[in-house]
Amino acid sequence: MADLVQHYLDRIRAEQIELRDGTLASYIPELADVDPEGFGLSLSSSDGYVYESGDTAVEFTIQSISKPFTYALALSQIGQDAVDARIGVEPSGEAFNEISVDDVTKTPKNAMINAGAIAAVSLIPGASPDERFDRILAFYSACAGRRLDIDMDVYLSEKETGNRNRAIAYMLTSFGVLDGDPDDVLDVYFRQCSVKVTSTDLARMAATLARGGLNPLTGRRVVDAGVVRRTLSVMVTCGMYDATGDWVSAVGMPAKSGVGGGIVAVLPGQLGIGVYSPRLDSRGNSVRGVQVCRSLSAQLGLHFLTVGRESSSTLRAVFDVSPGIRVYEVQGDLLFAGAEQVLRTAEHERGEYDVAVLDVTRVDDINDAARGMLTGMRASLTAAGKEAYLVDPDGRVVPADRRDDYDAIVFRTLDEAVDAARQSGIG
Ligand code: DON
Repeated sequence: MADLVQHYLDRIRAEQIELRDGTLASYIPELADVDPEGFGLSLSSSDGYVYESGDTAVEFTIQSISKPFTYALALSQIGQDAVDARIGVEPSGEAFNEISVDDVTKTPKNAMINAGAIAAVSLIPGASPDERFDRILAFYSACAGRRLDIDMDVYLSEKETGNRNRAIAYMLTSFGVLDGDPDDVLDVYFRQCSVKVTSTDLARMAATLARGGLNPLTGRRVVDAGVVRRTLSVMVTCGMYDATGDWVSAVGMPAKSGVGGGIVAVLPGQLGIGVYSPRLDSRGNSVRGVQVCRSLSAQLGLHFLTVGRESSSTLRAVFDVSPGIRVYEVQGDLLFAGAEQVLRTAEHERGEYDVAVLDVTRVDDINDAARGMLTGMRASLTAAGKEAYLVDPDGRVVPADRRDDYDAIVFRTLDEAVDAARQSGIG
């Protein structure tokens, strides 16, 4: 049920709430002064349904999470070849603010470190810094599905203190990577880092990437699928800086962190995650954010190398066999996102039936997260005064040796389930 997923998120967040390791970013007063306890977790399904837990309405600055989005915009505006001529796609294994370029090409190693991000800003067409920034802000807003805005205080402080970024921009100019005035480019970079978002905005932006560039909330295509694939590839290999290898092994989702305390993570085709908690580890990644993503991935089976064999839609058919008895026929490989879709549909419609019959005869493979959700569905439905039956001839959801625990609700055929419902006076 939707309630069940909500419960998972609340629990995963609660598990980390006592974690107070790490420190706030302190290079500007606006970041040093935020409430260190702020903690929000948002998850958007690929059809745009958002679950929220904790401080999901708190705004914070996007900071480096802006980088993949500006990179995507550059790719879509001037094409991959032109972008590749200025920015590489190799992991640097360096800190985000390393003053470095590739030894051979003399271009930034990737668009997730500051050097590459500043270069990406310079590739956005625009006659003035204002025009360039307007284009960037419109793009972020289209991904989030609402008009975003900038935190002026953060912007002014970033600009005042940004000597290291200034060093990077002037170095790039000397190598011929930046055209035009480096201070104009930096001004736009400081502004883009200062855009305010919530964890829910990040989840929605992530869901837009998960859907290959289509915002599931607005139904608008924001960018094409090839650009998203390239952007996600760079997020996989470079998104968490020098912690990327560990992240990919343990979490397995393209992601990006920011020193404002946000993390965005994308499970292609399935969902988008946004987390906010401002205490950072030594690499500039949110401490709780990293832990929450590790738990989500482990507990809900979200590693992107856990791939279902079939991509066909999960709900094959929904029909009433007689008044009060509704059948949900599920098919294919069932992972977290597919199970969530089935459960949410059944919950949404629960006013329309007395018995929900979940027929998993055509399910090929199922993981523990989906299995737990389908068995948990019964408890939620009985709490709402409904009954839930399962047609599971091959023991995909309830293995044969546990069938006795579920006596009278697990059946071998749909006819048996329907007969049982009728005998209990329904239909
Ligand atoms: O460029 C900077 O220094 C900041 N405005 C953004 C850095 C950032 O978020 C690094 N990520 N963890």
